[in-house]
Amino acid sequence: MIKGFLFDLDGVIVETAIFHYQAWRKMANDLGFDISEEFNEGLKGISRMDSLNLILEHGNIVLTESEKIDWATKKNEHYLTLVSKMTANDILPGVKEFFTQIKQTDIKIALGSVSKNAKMILEGVGLIIEFDAIIDGTKITKGKPDPEVFLKGAVELGLSPEECLVFEDAVAGVEAGKNAGMKVVGIGNAEVLTKADIVFGGFEGIELTQLLSNFQ
Ligand code: BG6
Ligand code: MG
Repeated sequence: MIKGFLFDLDGVIVETAIFHYQAWRKMANDLGFDISEEFNEGLKGISRMDSLNLILEHGNIVLTESEKIDWATKKNEHYLTLVSKMTANDILPGVKEFFTQIKQTDIKIALGSVSKNAKMILEGVGLIIEFDAIIDGTKITKGKPDPEVFLKGAVELGLSPEECLVFEDAVAGVEAGKNAGMKVVGIGNAEVLTKADIVFGGFEGIELTQLLSNFQ
């Protein structure tokens, strides 16, 4: 029986991919190459340093560890100026209504995000109070598709993996949920999120009891 929901942040609760893209793209341009929107798709759910390494590889750039940290810091400062303008209006459609449905049940809610900026973003959009537990990039050592972020979320909620349902928009995130031994709801395109147990285009219109009936 499902007793806890584990939500990814970026692309599930708020859409930040465009801001990550703008900030990474500026960095790539400063280093003398470009990254496409399509390339950015592959960075969804991937940690900051793993993303940086993929981008540098793409641009055939070799940097020292300390240079990498400098560029990642610069990228993050740019990203923060972009996301600091986010408000409750940036919460993705249907999310608030879905949370209202959850609050009428005993289901607990945790965040499972590899972002180190997750708390700041949740505070900015006014959703932080909804969470019983928050696992973010500051609490984990391995990024998705490693299951660490979701396994820690289950522990903080006092639940076993089989009692948890993960909500994910990224291929790496769906894999992390499956690697944790959890059921996964994909948010996005079913042709992309092939490993998810069920996929919805977004939260609009998701009826909680009906959703849960798929996992009994
Ligand atoms: C994930 C995003 O949620 O967080 C990735 O999908 C991002 O694109 C990762 O790189 C790390 O985020 P941050 O905020 O710690 O740089
Ligand atoms: Mg995501």
